[in-house]
Amino acid sequence: MTLVAVLPGDGIGPEVAAEAIRVLDALGIEHAEHAFGGNAILADGTPLPDQTLEACRAADAVLLAAVGLPELEGRPVRPEQGLLGLRRELGVYANLRPASADGIDLVIVRELVGGLYFGAKGTRDDGTWFDTCEYSRPEVERIARRAFEIARERRGRLTSVDKVNVLHTSRLWRDVVSELGASEYGDVPLDHALVDSFAMTVVTAPETIDVVVTENTFGDILSDVAAAVTGGLGVAASASLGDEPPGLFEPVHGSAPQIAGQGIANPAAMLRSTALMLRHGLGRPDEAEALERAVETGLRDAPTPDLGGTATTRGMGDAVLRALEG
Ligand code: NAD
Ligand code: IPM
Ligand code: MN
Repeated sequence: MTLVAVLPGDGIGPEVAAEAIRVLDALGIEHAEHAFGGNAILADGTPLPDQTLEACRAADAVLLAAVGLPELEGRPVRPEQGLLGLRRELGVYANLRPASADGIDLVIVRELVGGLYFGAKGTRDDGTWFDTCEYSRPEVERIARRAFEIARERRGRLTSVDKVNVLHTSRLWRDVVSELGASEYGDVPLDHALVDSFAMTVVTAPETIDVVVTENTFGDILSDVAAAVTGGLGVAASASLGDEPPGLFEPVHGSAPQIAGQGIANPAAMLRSTALMLRHGLGRPDEAEALERAVETGLRDAPTPDLGGTATTRGMGDAVLRALEG
């Protein structure tokens, strides 16, 4: 039997998770919710309680909405540490962030468990604070391999994004990607771009981009930019995959504290992440496609305020469910 661990989290998280849970119910997929993020800190002192991590490990897939509570900012323990810990514990090194709209169909493959986020960090005696960007050859190779596979499957091309003109780790990154391209993926056209000018390309010519592979921090920033040119954070989904299940499926957006509690958050990013879970996490491609089509209908018939409409979170959820069941 299929079991999904659902982590509603904070802010708009529980509001958009509720719509995903209705979809799971409609599809007859078993699920259980677990404490995670800021609310777990307030209740338990930790953003990733042991029981939650165990439940995630035991599940077939993990569906996460969003974490982040403004009142916890500046504290030593933050909700976001729970998310980083969960990604690391599950070994989900490949974060797929597709973005599509009229004429645009790209996917950012973001390295998710290395780089600046996970390198040495601290404070020196002289008062300097530091974060370190670190990558090993196997870490670059496995994410590059994943990106080449995706590009090959799409019969597309791969753009590797780095900052090789400045960063030492980018030299490793570019070498490993080039070597792998030459040795195993000669059929996949490969090019390289520097992150600063590539960010401009995402804004000015997103239709020219196919598959992108990049390190953790660049991927974080570029994926919000890609979201911005394809409908905004309310519609941007992601899949975080390792070599084994469970994968982690999460919208690109956060807990959106300014609109939390109003019932107006766009659930499309969460529902598209649910579709990615059906496809990449649970091996249910037909239902994934049906849900993706239903979300299109929901976006058209019941747009939320971020898209210029007046529908509530529940209103769009209703439209999606009607399309899915109808
Ligand atoms: P955010 O993504 O929460 O919000 C950025 C902007 O997008 C806001 O204007 C927000 O209202 C809007 N937005 C986001 N999702 C939306 C939705 N579904 N529907 C309509 N509008 C939406 O980013 P932020 O404000 O920089 O961060 C808020 C908190 O979320 C922080 O604590 C941050 O660490 C956290 N965060 C968590 C995740 C995650 O859990 N995966 C991701 C990003 C940020
Ligand atoms: C994202 C978020 C996270 C990240 C934060 C909340 C840790 O911004 O998923 O894009 O930086 O990876
Ligand atoms: Mn982000």
